[in-house]
Amino acid sequence: MREMRNIAAWLAEAAPHEIECVESLPSPTFRAKGSEQVSFSTNNYLALASSPRLIAAARQGLERYGVGNCESRLLGGNLEIYDALESKLAKLKHKESAVLFATGYLTNLGVLSTLPRAGQYARIYGYRSHGTHSYAYFGDQFNHLSIREGIRMSGADHHAFRHGDLDHLETLLKKSDADSRIIVTDGVFSQDGDIADLPGLLALAERYDAMVYVDDAHGTGVLGKHGEGTSEHFGVKSQRLIHMGTLSKAYGAIGGFVATDGYIAEILRLSCAAYGFTSTLPPDQALAVSEAIDAVREEPERRQRLWANQRYLVAQMARLPYELVSTATPIVPIMIGDETLADRYAALLAAEGIHIDAVKFPAVPMGKARLRVQLNAGHTRAQIDHFVGILDENQDLVGGEKPCAKIVAMSSRTSGSAVVRPWAKAAFTALERTANSAVSAFGWLGGKTSAGFASIARSVSPRRYQLSALLNLVTLATAILVAVDLYFDIPHLIFAYLLPILFVTIKFGRFPAFFATAVCGLCASLFLYEPLLSFRIDDRQDIAELAGFCVIASLISYVFGSPAKIFTSRRI
Ligand SMILES: Cc1ncc(COP(=O)(O)O)c(C=O)c1O
Repeated sequence: MREMRNIAAWLAEAAPHEIECVESLPSPTFRAKGSEQVSFSTNNYLALASSPRLIAAARQGLERYGVGNCESRLLGGNLEIYDALESKLAKLKHKESAVLFATGYLTNLGVLSTLPRAGQYARIYGYRSHGTHSYAYFGDQFNHLSIREGIRMSGADHHAFRHGDLDHLETLLKKSDADSRIIVTDGVFSQDGDIADLPGLLALAERYDAMVYVDDAHGTGVLGKHGEGTSEHFGVKSQRLIHMGTLSKAYGAIGGFVATDGYIAEILRLSCAAYGFTSTLPPDQALAVSEAIDAVREEPERRQRLWANQRYLVAQMARLPYELVSTATPIVPIMIGDETLADRYAALLAAEGIHIDAVKFPAVPMGKARLRVQLNAGHTRAQIDHFVGILDENQDLVGGEKPCAKIVAMSSRTSGSAVVRPWAKAAFTALERTANSAVSAFGWLGGKTSAGFASIARSVSPRRYQLSALLNLVTLATAILVAVDLYFDIPHLIFAYLLPILFVTIKFGRFPAFFATAVCGLCASLFLYEPLLSFRIDDRQDIAELAGFCVIASLISYVFGSPAKIFTSRRI
């Protein structure tokens, strides 16, 4: 075991991780570390897992059968409720038969490893095949790990095709001389959120005489008019389809299944070790899943809320400079790219009471780290606003546009017919560049101050973006003059301005401090730009003092909590 110790020590150093304990499960709110949080990465899409309806069904199972089924279904553990659930699942997927497994992972492992080896099993009973047969799998490169593992265990040929690339798949099918071909795909890709082109895959299956195995873990209960999944979404039915699904996502419990033609189901029951050589899901879970299937059909409002939330988030995100990997399903991953940055975003959100999974290599390719957003029927608009607000405030981390450039972008979007003139765009860009250079020249103080004003404006309305741009420039100009003026008077600065404003902030809160700042900023700018207004003030010290007040106050109000947060619940 020496190598194991070495590996463990190496991993502890190279990939340190700590799996936190939570006090409750997301519905989508949950408790962790003594406080309430909201999850934007839960598979409990319809918030059914903690619904009174499912709890009541599970309770019945507990009372009738106890907490677990210690038997294999082949050896005394085959309760009627499992048969009933399998019939329901078969009907849901418009197939002759369904086979239950203890988890979704086990379903893929068991079914995919068994199908090409069914002949070996039958030979034990004297089966002799006519001629030789060969099997080949054709799998999308982004398929779930359990699929890849199942295929590997089967020992059959495996040809991976580029994600969603039907031409590549066709090339591989053409080249193959296997006489049994099985195309395997996720229905909804778990890390990308896009939907497999099932009609396209079926057309190829038809042309090259193949079967299509679709893992609909994230589609079942979510996609289609009645929540039947990816096949209902596209309106396709085919004998070539083998449906796989998990019961641990929209249905809120645990388990997995395949729904398929009767003869394949029979082979699996007899020859698949993951079915016969292990215990199945506990009875209370079977009853809860059965109830969940009914609930999805009878309570369409759950799916309506899920999709309304999905559309709302996508619309809000359209204003921000983030790339959404896809917007076709409730999985709406936000591409971040850099692994460390994705972690940083997750931490920023966690500090605000939002849980989100930062998905990184090896779950996705290196440099394609993302925040895997999963919308939920239980999310409120305020929760989504809060989430988007935080991304908005931190857009500069992914090279987001600065407010000036954004005014142009927003005015062209919101005013519909209004065309942004090239000179205006050029002027804004030049202003932005000047402001940015000034910010970096002035350093941290100027940057924070202008960012403070920018975030105030950003969070209120597009109109205030313009105000923000102005305030930025005024503040920067002021800050530079003050820096020059107060160069030799730091103690005065601290005692005359820093402490009073600290007092205002602590005593009266950020809101009055922010308004005091804004008013002073305005006054300072009027004084500073006196030639424009034909003011005459000779004492430069006065000007500098007022300006200093403005800068320090805005800095303090920013540091003590972004004033933008005050407005976030009233976002546009
Ligand atoms: C596409 C896909 N297939 C299979 C599984 C495994 O399902 P389960 O968690 O029910 O074992 C998952 C789980 O995340 C999945 O995303």
